[in-house]
Amino acid sequence: MRLFIRHLSTLCRSRRRVPFLFLIGTLLSIVFISYLINHNQQTENFIKQTSKIADDQLKTANKLSTLVPKTSHIQKKGGGAWPIDEKGRSLKNHFLVLDLTGFFGGGASEGEQVQCPSSNTSFTWTRQQNRVNEIDFVVSHDAQGGGNIPFDRLQLNENQQQYSMAFVMESEVHSSTGDGWAKFNFIMTYDLDNSYPEPATYFDMNIHLIDLLSPPSVPFDQKDKDAYAVWIISNCNAHNGRQDFVGKLMNEIKIDSYGSCLNNKKGYSARMVDNANAYKKYKFVIAIENSNCFDYVTEKLVKAVEGGSIPIVAGYNNRSDYRRYMPKHSFLNIFDYKTIKELADDIKRIGNNKTLYESYLWYKNHSKNIEELKTLSLNEKLKHFADVVGANATMITNGIAGKERSENKICKLTRFVRQTPWQDIAAHKKIPRADANTACLPGRYILTHFKS
Ligand SMILES: *[C@@H]1O[C@H](CO)[C@@H](O)[C@H](O)[C@H]1NC(C)=O
Ligand SMILES: *[C@@H]1O[C@H](CO)[C@@H](O)[C@H](O)[C@H]1NC(C)=O
Ligand SMILES: *[C@@H]1O[C@H](CO)[C@@H](O)[C@H](O)[C@H]1NC(C)=O
Ligand SMILES: *[C@@H]1O[C@H](CO)[C@@H](O)[C@H](O)[C@H]1NC(C)=O
Ligand SMILES: *[C@@H]1O[C@H](CO)[C@@H](O)[C@H](O)[C@H]1NC(C)=O
Repeated sequence: MRLFIRHLSTLCRSRRRVPFLFLIGTLLSIVFISYLINHNQQTENFIKQTSKIADDQLKTANKLSTLVPKTSHIQKKGGGAWPIDEKGRSLKNHFLVLDLTGFFGGGASEGEQVQCPSSNTSFTWTRQQNRVNEIDFVVSHDAQGGGNIPFDRLQLNENQQQYSMAFVMESEVHSSTGDGWAKFNFIMTYDLDNSYPEPATYFDMNIHLIDLLSPPSVPFDQKDKDAYAVWIISNCNAHNGRQDFVGKLMNEIKIDSYGSCLNNKKGYSARMVDNANAYKKYKFVIAIENSNCFDYVTEKLVKAVEGGSIPIVAGYNNRSDYRRYMPKHSFLNIFDYKTIKELADDIKRIGNNKTLYESYLWYKNHSKNIEELKTLSLNEKLKHFADVVGANATMITNGIAGKERSENKICKLTRFVRQTPWQDIAAHKKIPRADANTACLPGRYILTHFKS
């Protein structure tokens, strides 16, 4: 540049000034014109790019609108058929779902639309019972609400598929059982084997797997040295008599109880939200459910695992089989002991020996990167979990990890009807829900067990 200016000043001082200035003017014009041409090309490229983006967006939007038609596009039942493929599997992308009963006073909001990524479908909630001719699914909390369902008006044939579903999360002791359930196409409970097509459980596997694999946030040496275990409970009159059992265990070892039953410590409420914060400071967490029924395992276990302590559970004759929820050698089952004294002695033995204690958290000791695991899909997380747990992965194949896909209950249904011929669903044998006498241990069983 400096060289150019020096040349320019030499030229300007020269006697042949005028032709040289003309030459420079011409040069500048050429530079300016080529700039304009270049600029136009860039603009053109820019416009081309923008229109390509717009085009892609349009294509995507078109794709989306075929995947997710607007509510107003739903064919009125009786008029239009529910599209199916040659095998009878639904090709529908958008479903209308009637929430018949609500859920503990709450329930779906009218017109709310929910996306189901697992099947590229979506559905809209309605509470309007008079839309029964239009709906694709009618959903009832507990089967008792089934009394209001006009089952005979729902259609299940080549032209129309309208399904009923009942769900409940309470144990057989605290909810309806029996024939009422056999009227529904689909039943969803925490029962891993008897739900159809899939259970609806207390476990979000995306979180539970990370909780399982995460190192304990409070290491052994920093856990409470005074009390062995923590208990936080609000229902002090449980069916299985756990309150009397824990009272007897308290005579043998120190247990901090923050909840309303046998309370001896303040600082945490019986709310599940901050339980894990209390749990993590203790070596053991009492995670005994209010009743002992097949697969009835709730957020009591979820929170104990989140806290990174050893859960003390109660399962007899598979009611429940905790191996379906936890790796081997990772919990204490009170029914493995003949007496409460024997259980207390084992809690002391394990709680006073760091090596032994940590052996119960063996599945947390691995080289996986937790932050990376968090970003993975559920299937990928399961693979890594299987790597860690290896041959002891009973739960993966038969239990919670094999059966809980951790998505919206209705999305489980829309995925299923897109994968399953309607004739198979129609032929599926509907079954009553087993009553509490079959599914659960008798009332106050924990006490009976330890008396004998
Ligand atoms: C959903 O649609 C996208 C794009 O069309 C496709 O790539 C994906 O495989 C679909 N997923 C499922 C579960 O069908
Ligand atoms: C418990 O379930 C397992 C299968 O998960 C079965 O093999 C076993 O017989 C059952 N035991 C009882 C006592 O029902
Ligand atoms: C602690 O437990 C380990 C593993 O079970 C055992 O080998 C060791 O002998 C125990 N230590 C004591 C002092 O009991
Ligand atoms: C993890 O496992 C290694 C051996 O594989 C052992 O030395 C270490 O003490 C374990 N750590 C914990 C916290 O259990
Ligand atoms: C896990 O399985 C392996 C091989 O089957 C066995 O050697 C090991 O003891 C098991 N670990 C636990 C904690 O059960």
